[in-house]
Order: sequence, then structure tokens, then C-alpha cells
Amino acid sequence: MTQTVSQYVANIDNLPVLPEIAQKVIALADADRPNIGELADLIQKDASITANILKLINSGYYSLRREIADIRQAVVLLGLQQVRNLVVTMVSVNHFEEPPGSPLRLADFWDHSLGVATIAQCLANRFKFADAANLYLAALLHDIGKVIIQCHYPDDMSRITDLMGQKHCSMYEAETQILGFSHAEVGAVLTRNWQLPPAVCEAIEFHHQCHKADDHVFAAILQFSDFVTKGRLQAVYGDQFTDVVFDDEPCWKILMQTFAAQNIDFERLLLEMDDEIEKARELVRQARGG
Ligand SMILES: [Fe+2]
Ligand SMILES: [Fe+2]
Repeated sequence: MTQTVSQYVANIDNLPVLPEIAQKVIALADADRPNIGELADLIQKDASITANILKLINSGYYSLRREIADIRQAVVLLGLQQVRNLVVTMVSVNHFEEPPGSPLRLADFWDHSLGVATIAQCLANRFKFADAANLYLAALLHDIGKVIIQCHYPDDMSRITDLMGQKHCSMYEAETQILGFSHAEVGAVLTRNWQLPPAVCEAIEFHHQCHKADDHVFAAILQFSDFVTKGRLQAVYGDQFTDVVFDDEPCWKILMQTFAAQNIDFERLLLEMDDEIEKARELVRQARGG
């Protein structure tokens, strides 16, 4: 009998949990009446996260004119949601360990994930999309199901990569054929378990089929950012980029229809994304303490 995706995830011993600080920061930042002091106090209790965030904020990545000395100042300057996302980024990037002998490199995984997150945020700003902060979070964790399969079901991952080699298909297609579901659904089950915002979990679930999501514009920006990042980065965790004809993709059509009135030059936008990818790589280096 084939397993459902929920059973597949439930059968994992030591399923990764989202560290408590990230959970609390999300809850505080997303509260109806968020309290900046409380959020800053919570972050400051963790000396290494505090030091890393301040280092990052004062690095060339943000190009601020003056030095930020404490978290409260950072929240005032960058906003609650930016600081929320920075904490989750720091925690996530350092939370997972590469299994010994793994053919897939976590450094590549985070380069890709942060690339997608940076592009998604950039597009959200350009499109004036209201839920930019959650879009960043969904993009950061959209492929986390791949890490779960790799770390907890390495034999499945070997079969998946073998099939990809034989059929020259994507990881998503190989997973669906072998498991009956993909890393997208695995990631959705995990992030629902972590009680991340529902919009984030839904977009993760449909990041390869954005037209099936209730909020298909949210999922379309994520899927489009994924395509753009795959096209710009050489190393993608387990997946090689196969040339995508954007015009044929539902995510492209959804974006063209939804944002047509804004007269956005998509071709030009794609060129601008290269700088964003470089910035994302710098963010990964900083977040990993490099
Ligand atoms: Fe994916
Ligand atoms: Fe991806």
C-alpha cells in the first residue's frame, strides 16, 4: 500500500522542529498589535543570533549610512517583518546538517533558497504585492521537503536521483513517480507542523503548480522566482535547470494577467535580477558565518 505524504512525514523519527526562537519571533511579529520592545528583548536573549543580525545589517548587503548598535534600532529601521525574516533565515540556514556522504550540498540548497527569497521579495515590491513578508518566508523554505527526503529517506533520494539521470526529468517529476507526491507536499506538511502562516504553507505546497493554489498569484510569484533563480544559478540542489519557455508556464501567464496594468517590462526585470542573486549569495555567506 502506498503511503500518504502525511504518513511519510509522520514516520520520521526526530523530525526537525523550528527552533523556539523562530516560532516566537513569528508569533510576536505577526500579532495584531506587535510590541517592538518585546520582540527586541526576545531576540537579544540569543547572543549569537543578535550578533549575526547586527553584523549582517551593518554589512554591505544593506548599505546603511550609519551603524546599527542594537536590535531595537534594527527593528525600527528595517521593520518588524524584515527582522522576523532575518531571524528565521539565520536559524534555518544553520539548523540542518548535511548527512555524511550526501551527494547534495546544503550550501547549494541555501544559495538557491535565498536566491528565490530575494527575487520573490524584489518582485513583490515591484508588483506592490501586499504579502511580501510571507512570500519571502515561503520562498526561503519552498524546497525544504528535499532536505527532509535527503536526510530521512536517503534511499528514496538515491532512487529519485537515479530516475532523474535515466529520464532527464526534474526532481519533482521523479519524486511524483516514485513516491506518489513531491518535496512540495512534504514541505507543506512540515511547515504546517511548524505552524507557519497558512499562506506560506499553501504556496510551498503549490510552488510547482501555482495555478492550483487558492492564492494563485502568491504561488505564481514564488514559482516564477524559482524559475528565474534556476536560470541564473549553476548549482541547484539536486536539480539541473532545463530551459524554460516562460510564455508556456502558468505562473508567467498569471503574472502577466494580474500585473498587466502596471506596465512592467518583464524582460528588463529579469536582467535586474542578476544583482539580486549576488546579494542573496552574500546573505548566505553571512548567515552561515562566512
Ligand atoms: Fe521545488
Ligand atoms: Fe526551488
